[in-house]
Amino acid sequence: MQNFQITTSHPSETLALGKKFGEIVQRGTVILLNGPLGAGKTCFAQGLAAGLGVPKTHPVTSPSYSLMNIHCGRLPLYHFDLYRLSELEDLDELGYDEFAEGSGVAVIEWAERIDLLSEASLEVAIECLDENRRRFTFVAYDDRGRQLLELIAV
Ligand SMILES: Nc1ncnc2c1ncn2[C@@H]1O[C@H](COP(=O)(O)OP(=O)(O)OP(=O)(O)O)[C@@H](O)[C@H]1O
Ligand SMILES: [Mg+2]
Repeated sequence: MQNFQITTSHPSETLALGKKFGEIVQRGTVILLNGPLGAGKTCFAQGLAAGLGVPKTHPVTSPSYSLMNIHCGRLPLYHFDLYRLSELEDLDELGYDEFAEGSGVAVIEWAERIDLLSEASLEVAIECLDENRRRFTFVAYDDRGRQLLELIAV
């Protein structure tokens, strides 16, 4: 499966959706999260972290000063937020390639700020339909992404 769409009606539903992905996601998966401010990118990433077994004592938040945080779960979770990315070099300095192709799962908020599609397993585009409804469009770009969607969309 290449594409999948689903609408959530409450943050708890977005958390639950992210959690389903986190429970089955494989090592080396790169997930791009796009959508406007307040769309629910961090909320989805929090669900993903829960599904990966990241302890609540180290919660996924919107990093104010860092572009990336590492969380330890069943697999390492590399949570990027590129909102404040000013230079492409910043990403290189972070060692992006190392993390994105590494032994964990990379989830990247504001991925559209730079063109990362060629490296992605899955792109998640979130649209705000109203105050509480969010439409998620998933597009798979590699085998890991396709497998994820096949397992989720049953
Ligand atoms: N169905 C929903 N799913 C997710 N969040 C929702 C939903 N309905 C309402 N919300 C609200 O939308 C906001 C989503 O915030 P979140 O920080 O996850 O967005 P974001 O996309 O990461 O924003 P930013 O671009 O600032 O990082 C929260 O305040 C949450 O309560
Ligand atoms: Mg966010």
